[in-house]
Amino acid sequence: MTARRLGIGLVSVGWMGRLHSRAYLAAPHHFPDLPARAELLVAADPDAGGRAHATDVLGYRSAVADYREVMARDDVDAVSICAPNFLHREIALAAIAAGKPFWIEKPMGRSAAESGEIARAAADRGLVTAVGFNYRHAPAIARARELVRSGALGRITHVRSSFLADYSSDPRGALTWRFLTERAGSGVLGDLASHAADLVQFIAGRIERVSADVETFIAERPLPSAGAASHFSRGSADAPTGRVENEDYAVLLARLSGGAIASIEASRIDVGPRAEYALEVYGTAGALRWDFQRMNELQLADSPDGFRTVLARPGDGEFARFQPGAGTAMGFDDLKTIEAALFLRSVAEGRQLAPSADDAWEAARVVDAALASARSGAWTEVPAA
Ligand SMILES: NC(=O)c1ccc[n+]([C@@H]2O[C@H](COP(=O)([O-])OP(=O)(O)OC[C@H]3O[C@@H](n4cnc5c(N)ncnc54)[C@H](O)[C@@H]3O)[C@@H](O)[C@H]2O)c1
Repeated sequence: MTARRLGIGLVSVGWMGRLHSRAYLAAPHHFPDLPARAELLVAADPDAGGRAHATDVLGYRSAVADYREVMARDDVDAVSICAPNFLHREIALAAIAAGKPFWIEKPMGRSAAESGEIARAAADRGLVTAVGFNYRHAPAIARARELVRSGALGRITHVRSSFLADYSSDPRGALTWRFLTERAGSGVLGDLASHAADLVQFIAGRIERVSADVETFIAERPLPSAGAASHFSRGSADAPTGRVENEDYAVLLARLSGGAIASIEASRIDVGPRAEYALEVYGTAGALRWDFQRMNELQLADSPDGFRTVLARPGDGEFARFQPGAGTAMGFDDLKTIEAALFLRSVAEGRQLAPSADDAWEAARVVDAALASARSGAWTEVPAA
């Protein structure tokens, strides 16, 4: 069968935009049976350096400053939306109006209302979507999900997820869009706790209600120099400062649909953990632990002898697409290659396969409920869609 060519348009050539692009190109190397091949047609970024990178390095045929030119092109079959959060709604609605399926980064909207607007509009237009909940694709997570679903761990009693990062631990970290409510929405809740909430729901059941607290520990940050916008931008020592508007740290206690209790913790200012994104699941017959920093390992207790380490192996999720045997590691970019493959197949076959806009909306409702609970001090229901 000849694979169909799908013209790809990219919006924003930052960390994620570059990774989406590499993932589209890598997808057929690992999934040669894919019914579609990506053709990188056009990238949009107001930054000239990003546009040059798109054409000179990533291989886009052209680059433009305004994303609306991407949506206007008939030869663009699908788009990647990798812009800062405050642009997601506008760009996603433009993609939907143009009838383009999209792969969007998380958090999808700045609030549950925005995420819901995007998810509903995509559904009304009958478009498939993909959302950057990449940790789902780790083979060890696929195995964890299977172990839970097969009943190998018994009845699930409690789940712990902590997404602890240090990317904003330096108080000299510049006050970029990520720290401003109007630009980012929530802080670490949308950035990291949304991943954790998605993993908990993917593996252990729907989060039905939460009790949460949040805090901003670094209240002021230096204003950024022009162009500085990444997670890792630093302000100069003598720069004027501005107020951080969203939370650095969040902790949630949650009840899941199956009756289990979950705790979710997320921080962007920890000194020590680098990207310690962990999930632990405990059941009446066993338990498992996973940490993204050791992505290919699963701590598994399926006997009274306690935990043992098992390495991801062929048979766990898509591991065999990348490595022939256990012990040879996969990396972060590979998770995005799996996401790209799911998205390309979805578009070609017209069926939803990747984490979806609905999943992003669900995670956004958990984030909103956590913020409401932190304000009121009360347990808060997470509404069903
Ligand atoms: N899935 C994940 O694990 C993950 C990891 C990092 C970031 N993200 C998400 O990806 C998104 C982008 O983050 P990033 O780290 O790639 O950001 P980044 O700062 O590296 O890149 C952002 C890019 O957007 C461009 N941009 C700014 N204004 C624009 C406009 N009007 N039109 C088009 N492009 C514009 C900038 O020039 C820059 O190239 C965010 O929503 C973030 O939360 C997800």
